Amino acid sequence: MSQTRRQFLATGAAAIAATALPRAAGAAPFDFVLEAKERPILLPGCGGPTQAWTYAETWPLALRVKRRQPVTIEFRNGLAEHSSIHWHGLRIPHAMDGVPWITQDPVRPGDRFTYSFAPPDPGLFFFHPHCDDITALSHGLAGVIIVEDPRESGLFDQEELLVLMDWRVKDDGSYDTITTDKTAARAGTFGRLRTTNGQLAPAYQVRPGARLRLRCINVDASRIPLLDIVGAGAQVIATDGNACAPFPLSAWPLGPAMRADLALIAPDEAGAVIELHDVWQSTPVVLARFEVAGEPLPVAGRDRPLALPPAELPEPDLANAVKLELDLGAGVTDPAVAEFQKLFGADEICTTRRVFWSLNTRAWPGMAATGKPEPLAVMKSGASYVVEIFNGTPHRHPMHLHGHTFKVIGSSKRDVPVHWADTVLLEPKERLKIAFVGGEPGDWMVHCHIIEHQETGMMGYYRVA
Ligand code: C2O
Ligand code: CU
Repeated sequence: MSQTRRQFLATGAAAIAATALPRAAGAAPFDFVLEAKERPILLPGCGGPTQAWTYAETWPLALRVKRRQPVTIEFRNGLAEHSSIHWHGLRIPHAMDGVPWITQDPVRPGDRFTYSFAPPDPGLFFFHPHCDDITALSHGLAGVIIVEDPRESGLFDQEELLVLMDWRVKDDGSYDTITTDKTAARAGTFGRLRTTNGQLAPAYQVRPGARLRLRCINVDASRIPLLDIVGAGAQVIATDGNACAPFPLSAWPLGPAMRADLALIAPDEAGAVIELHDVWQSTPVVLARFEVAGEPLPVAGRDRPLALPPAELPEPDLANAVKLELDLGAGVTDPAVAEFQKLFGADEICTTRRVFWSLNTRAWPGMAATGKPEPLAVMKSGASYVVEIFNGTPHRHPMHLHGHTFKVIGSSKRDVPVHWADTVLLEPKERLKIAFVGGEPGDWMVHCHIIEHQETGMMGYYRVA
């Protein structure tokens, strides 16, 4: 086992010293120990510390593991509420999916849980709890996991991880409003302080002519930036960590939990600047800067395509696929919800009385030990499915399916390139088709990743039997 797998890899914000918990030889059999607890961090421009919830001393936290190699991670819950870790986008055994009441018992305050799996696919993935997520995620309780693949070695001269998150904080570093009924029923609550790796538009140096890979992840609970690069032509080479046929980057939406790997060749002129922008508003927001400096890299080999080895994922059989529909709705029409809400109280932490959203006209607000609804559909492991998702609401929704990587195959509104994803953004009134092969048996969550939408009804699950 390589040394790096036993250590946290600190990236980005240097505000906090990395105190990794490397495994001493012969000690407990974990590659990583993640302890969720409150830790103060200093955010840019804030007069005082913010009481963040983090998994380690470093924020953002990036774990690096190797494709198909087993990794064991001990989770310790140092929070005052129950928790778990969901490994977003990793196609790993159901028992490791980290959803309280569905795939495991919640990890109670002071308790521990060991996750072990061998990640099958290379790329950039996400991890976070799956209960009271709006509080946890808006306090920063999230990390990224990069699955390395030897096939990618030498393809790039430099890579940077860019973790995007808005902090809902005031000038003194204390928390601002995290959710209101009004915003939960609309586009979600936005943070005032927009950060990349916990900093304001951080700057990185790149060598002239460098082949640069930018691994971008949006860990925010609401914001949907439209990514663009100025100063160099950039390609999207992976979506949600999965290699795609490269396509030119042009205002690519990165909803909550979505990832995009961008690739470019830095200009030859020292002093040139490349910027990553969010172009959602008419005045772009600078998310990161790359300053060209130092010795130029050799010109030889620069014409190699900026691309990753093709993704190796189960290919759905479109001709024989079972067709399903998934309707995203606002409001609730199912009378069972009223009944369900009466059951609340078994586990107050994961419950909510707010209901604003639905899937196939049924809401599943919060998550509790009681009141689990029927599955949205029952699937067969190994069979192919095409799901037509229709967004009948006036808001955008990044829809996520656990445990499966699906192919986005077409949209009624946009010219979307065919690509693999685990989270896909639906525009208002859009119909979008995804296709996938039913995975391991179990109940796999389907929900919007605007966390206030998820927690107020826009959640369900597919049962793979
Ligand atoms: Cu990041 Cu249920 O998901
Ligand atoms: Cu939503």
